[in-house]
Amino acid sequence: MRHDTDVLLNEERVFKPGQEIIDVLHVKDWESEIEKGKDIEKYWAEKAEQFVWFKKWDKVLDDSNEPFYKWFVNGKINMAYNAVDRWITTDKRNQVAVLYVNERGHEKKLTYYELYREVNKFANALKNLGVKKGDVVSTYLPMCPELMVVLLACTKIGAIHSVVYSGLSVGAFVERINDCNAKILITADGTFRRGKIIDLKRVSDEAMLQCPTVETVVVVKHTGIPIEMSELSGREIFYETLIEGEPAELEAEEMDAEDPLFILYTSGSTGKPKGVLHTTAGYMVGVATTLNNVFNIHDGDLWWCTGDIGWITGHSFLLYGPLLLGTTTLVYEGAPDYPNPGAWWSVVEKYGVTKLYTAPTAIRHLMRFGSKYPNLYNLSSLKILGTVGEPINPEAWMWFYKNVGKEKCPIMDTWWQTETGMHMISPLPIAPLKPGSATMALPGIDADVVDDEGNPVPVGKGGLLVIKKPWPAMFRTLYNDEEKFINTYWKEVPGCVYTAGDIARKDEDGYFWIQGRSDDVLKIAGHRIGTSEVESAFVSHPAVVEAAVIGKSDPIKGEVIKAFVILKEGYQLKTQLIEDLSRHVRYELGPVAVLGQITQVDSLPKTRSGKIMRRVLRARDRGEDVGDISTLEE
Ligand code: WT7
Repeated sequence: MRHDTDVLLNEERVFKPGQEIIDVLHVKDWESEIEKGKDIEKYWAEKAEQFVWFKKWDKVLDDSNEPFYKWFVNGKINMAYNAVDRWITTDKRNQVAVLYVNERGHEKKLTYYELYREVNKFANALKNLGVKKGDVVSTYLPMCPELMVVLLACTKIGAIHSVVYSGLSVGAFVERINDCNAKILITADGTFRRGKIIDLKRVSDEAMLQCPTVETVVVVKHTGIPIEMSELSGREIFYETLIEGEPAELEAEEMDAEDPLFILYTSGSTGKPKGVLHTTAGYMVGVATTLNNVFNIHDGDLWWCTGDIGWITGHSFLLYGPLLLGTTTLVYEGAPDYPNPGAWWSVVEKYGVTKLYTAPTAIRHLMRFGSKYPNLYNLSSLKILGTVGEPINPEAWMWFYKNVGKEKCPIMDTWWQTETGMHMISPLPIAPLKPGSATMALPGIDADVVDDEGNPVPVGKGGLLVIKKPWPAMFRTLYNDEEKFINTYWKEVPGCVYTAGDIARKDEDGYFWIQGRSDDVLKIAGHRIGTSEVESAFVSHPAVVEAAVIGKSDPIKGEVIKAFVILKEGYQLKTQLIEDLSRHVRYELGPVAVLGQITQVDSLPKTRSGKIMRRVLRARDRGEDVGDISTLEE
């Protein structure tokens, strides 16, 4: 990754949008929009007006108890009402809201009206199960329309949802469910992936043995594979059975602007995943506004975000953002290269996708197969492209720009995080683009690059990426861990400033170039995973005494795991053990944890207090200067 981003600094090409793009833009004057955004309260209040409020707010921002900011104080609103209900009395009533497509070519469409009815049925069913405002409902579901229905149903009745990504394994799953004390779990029989069906129910069964708070497990028949329901516990019920006979009408719960909307777990530098908590109104305003500004959403758009709903990208920009703007959102289940590497491009052609939002790792993966595949399809419906998840190297940017966008679609390189909820640093389509730069802070956002003291660093120099003023979709805390919330994000530099955990530079035009994480977090194919999580997984194997993990750069995944292990006496790192360790780590953490290399060592560099100095391992590995090692143990 380092190597890629160094190249970024020499990138001098600039690309401007064509007239046909400019003609239809909501924001044609970028500079004056940024100027307007400097008065954050006025700016975000104006954006909040677009929603239906049961009661308007008294105060836009309450900053009396930093960093526990409150937005739209005393406002009353409902997410599902604004994402779904409000459209059924308009021309959008019979417009497709959700277009589901899978790698087998099956599709399912739900209009706004159909979605409305489904959401109400499931919301009524949840109520019958005893779910009340503030209860936590978890899901372990594939990318399918039911997942969207379930989440909207939760928000309709004020239940807090917590999605577990369907690629996570039992251990990670259990940890998440138990941390938030979920009352209900919704899962499915399986998911389609690369021509196979992955049995999700079996993972869920294993996890449920260790999740005492879950009272009911609801099972969606999605793939149709035979599964076993446990009749005995009386805990399990099919989705279909549950909603049978439920009324398709339900009044939305009046939620306070600051009522929790969802918890989503992400990795940090300690072993325990962090429960990022988002609340209702600010999230709604931030997500809809940034999607609209960055991707210029219009009637007639077909929006496709390839990210999974199990991550924040899917929450904000597959589910909520597009529905809040009343557009059509495509949800795709399957791998990008199955049945062939043209799979995605054939979807673009067949349905006429206009805006495509994806990840650099997917682009690099598809790039491997050459320009042949995108050239086989008619991609002329595309207008704007986007990426998220990690820095995009100029080579991948250019490939995407030329072969997919045919040099007429601007690429929005959006920098943001699970914690920020919405886009933070990103171009607008009107902006001159530099391949590899996320451009500038969006209107209403105050971002900067500073040193440890909080002083802005000179042009071209690396520093900490910080956000200096609150923003509406900001997370409000870490669930059950206020102390960590404060210490991790708000204490690194003086003043009440949010530190993102990324290193960035600014160039002479004020453009941001994100360099990667500053903490012990890896980005594997855009997924966040903490080095200490991986280390614990290694150490839980009987052959391993101690382990240290760093990132190793990878041409497709950005980074993969490089592990240094101390083995128990009598063990040798031979092929069999390597395979065994790989399987073990994958079992513990899921396929997100991609192992690049395992090396056996006799000792690890540690501080005198016993902390592993990964920095030293990294420097040695790259043949760089190890820097200050005065705290290194003898
Ligand atoms: C981290 C957040 C936001 C949804 C997906 C990831 C990295 C994200 C970019 C970008 C460079 C990026 C950062 C950030 N990142 N987008 N456009 N350019 N880096 O969410 O899992 O919370 O990860 O992803 O390192 O801190 P996440």
